[in-house]
Amino acid sequence: MTTLPAVFDAYSRYYDLLYRDKDYAAEVGYIDELLIRQGVTGRELLEFGSGTGKHGRLLAGRGYRVTGIERSAEMVAQAATAEGFNCRQGDICSVQLGRTFDAVLSLFHVISYQISNVDLQAVFSRAAEHLKPGGLFLFDIWYTPAVYAQKPEVRIKRLADGELEITRIAEPVSYPNENRIDVNYTIHAHDKSNGAFTSLIESHPMRHFSLPELDLLATGAGFQRVCAEEFLTGSEPGEDTWGVCLVLRRR
Ligand SMILES: C[S@@+](CC[C@H](N)C(=O)[O-])C[C@H]1O[C@@H](n2cnc3c(N)ncnc32)[C@H](O)[C@@H]1O
Repeated sequence: MTTLPAVFDAYSRYYDLLYRDKDYAAEVGYIDELLIRQGVTGRELLEFGSGTGKHGRLLAGRGYRVTGIERSAEMVAQAATAEGFNCRQGDICSVQLGRTFDAVLSLFHVISYQISNVDLQAVFSRAAEHLKPGGLFLFDIWYTPAVYAQKPEVRIKRLADGELEITRIAEPVSYPNENRIDVNYTIHAHDKSNGAFTSLIESHPMRHFSLPELDLLATGAGFQRVCAEEFLTGSEPGEDTWGVCLVLRRR
């Protein structure tokens, strides 16, 4: 039997360059403010899908102690630990750390990578199990009204640094009966140090959500929704809001 590489394993090599312009510092400022606004005073955070650790390290710089769980071994390998931040390989559908935290975070659409109801129910349950009573589960998702209003399109992104030149083509395929878009990435990379050209193809299936659907998942796992707003701006979600941030409180 051939084992297919996990989503993000090959992509991880190019991840930080591809998202070089993403303003992680501003995002962490927003998350810190949101946690404070919702009354979180403790500093212990669990991060689901911690990727290369950018949010985690910045949150550690603000005095939080962050434990990251990340499925892709290659992403974990790219993630430098720092004082206040560590991460380990694991699946957020099944992780069991045997301790609780003040908040569980899952940032940059990690929840949208859980496309089946079974996996979503498992992730919400794992979040609840790792929270103190009254603790918060904070995450952002693709929002169904915006996905249908805006319709995903083919996009091309070109980036370069001292070592690499890359071109990424993102080709979406919509599965409306499953609330799912498969984003098929093709990456062409040129390694300037040795002149080598590499190409890879990786498919990222993404689920999008309505608020009633998320409320059902939340209630089933013992949560109550306390906030749903546009990620970063705090505006009310609508057809122009691709990324919505949810905050759930463990009852
Ligand atoms: C778009 S990246 C976001 C990474 C990081 N949170 C950031 O903001 O840069 C999505 C990450 O979620 C991870 N992921 C998806 N499903 C997961 C699962 N079931 N368990 C653990 N990690 C998962 C992927 O491997 C990937 O690193």
